[in-house]
Amino acid sequence: MDAHKTAATNTPLLQARNLTRHFDVSKPLLNRLLEGKPRQILQAVAGVDFDIRRGETFALVGESGCGKSTVANLVAGLYAPTAGSIIFDGMDITAFGRKRQMKDFRRRVAMIFQDPYASLNPRWRVFAIISEPIRAFRLLQGKKAIARRTAQLLEQVGLSPRDGHKYPHEFSGGQRQRISIARALASNPEFVICDEPTSALDVSVQAQILNLMKDLQNRLGLSYLFISHNLAVVRHMAHHIGVMYLGRLCETAPADTLFDHPRHPYTRMLLETIPDIEMTGKKRRPVAGEIPNPIDPPPGCAFHPRCPLAASICRRRRPELNTVANGVQVACHAVFEGASWRPDKDGAPGDHPGAAAPGTRGQDPGVKSGRDPSFEERIPPHGA
Ligand SMILES: Nc1ncnc2c1ncn2[C@@H]1O[C@H](COP(=O)(O)OP(=O)(O)OP(=O)(O)O)[C@@H](O)[C@H]1O
Ligand code: SF4
Ligand SMILES: [Mg+2]
Repeated sequence: MDAHKTAATNTPLLQARNLTRHFDVSKPLLNRLLEGKPRQILQAVAGVDFDIRRGETFALVGESGCGKSTVANLVAGLYAPTAGSIIFDGMDITAFGRKRQMKDFRRRVAMIFQDPYASLNPRWRVFAIISEPIRAFRLLQGKKAIARRTAQLLEQVGLSPRDGHKYPHEFSGGQRQRISIARALASNPEFVICDEPTSALDVSVQAQILNLMKDLQNRLGLSYLFISHNLAVVRHMAHHIGVMYLGRLCETAPADTLFDHPRHPYTRMLLETIPDIEMTGKKRRPVAGEIPNPIDPPPGCAFHPRCPLAASICRRRRPELNTVANGVQVACHAVFEGASWRPDKDGAPGDHPGAAAPGTRGQDPGVKSGRDPSFEERIPPHGA
């Protein structure tokens, strides 16, 4: 491969830089004037940076309302960002003015949504649903060629060409998601945005759809932005993971690293919520505390009201996302400071499993003694 080609392959397919999206959720002007209320701006996404490499899956995880779908809509070009840029294959899509450029981008990028039934036109037969992008982008001419390609797409997702004559309501949830995938593939995309693609499905079918998506990725060299609130699903799919909290990334890392060595207290709390598949008997706990209001986010680190390691600086200064190890970025003062970090008494909810046990500060991890180390004990020194 020549140097030019290698450089092109090594550059990420997609780069999000300082991606920001605010929503004006103010009451109408007259109401505001009468009630003397100011405008209300909701920061759904507040300066997010990530790369998606060719042929790989970048997953976004986080609780409901943290901004995952807003990122998906921004990346798909459905929302205009309030600030920041999205570079796709070297082109800034936020600067696309001409219709032709946007049309080409839309052909190369497809979306799969959570609810396959809502995203399929119930009055169209499956054949028409799947072949629509082929016609819209004029990818093939002639009925026969379009029919052949549609049959091939149906087979590619594990359905029969005969299914093309049916309507969406004649299929199960899993089959409908297969139809959505076939439709997404019809425009020969390079990049697929998957927003909770299996959340609405029965657990028994989820694995089949995820395996199909992985198989298609390998066969067609697809890149995915994969959104889920379910870390177990993400573990199965992702090469790289970004954990979002209240519109910002708090940790990004290669998938294995994130699961083997989670650094941010929020990531650790999320990992505690994964069902105990290995039946080790270890207790699983829901993430403690309420998600703050994104219209009025807490000052400093937005996670501090729920964080067992919070200290006074966390309430004053927002931690930036910094590189702490190869491919790992974290936004947490405690992680930056490492073993010398001292949580405030007030800021450390004592009854939470992640709260540091008194008297263990500065000691070496309890891993050696075979017990489950507390969050604080597991915090690695900066750069580890
Ligand atoms: N069009 C909109 N107008 C106003 N607020 C919005 C809009 N879309 C999203 N929001 C708000 O932005 C925040 C992020 O929403 P988003 O849908 O991106 O979250 P999410 O992480 O996808 O959540 P979920 O897991 O529930 O799908 C939420 O507070 C939501 O209420
Ligand atoms: S220790 Fe501080 S900076 Fe780190 S997550 Fe907790 S509150 Fe945020
Ligand atoms: Mg969503």
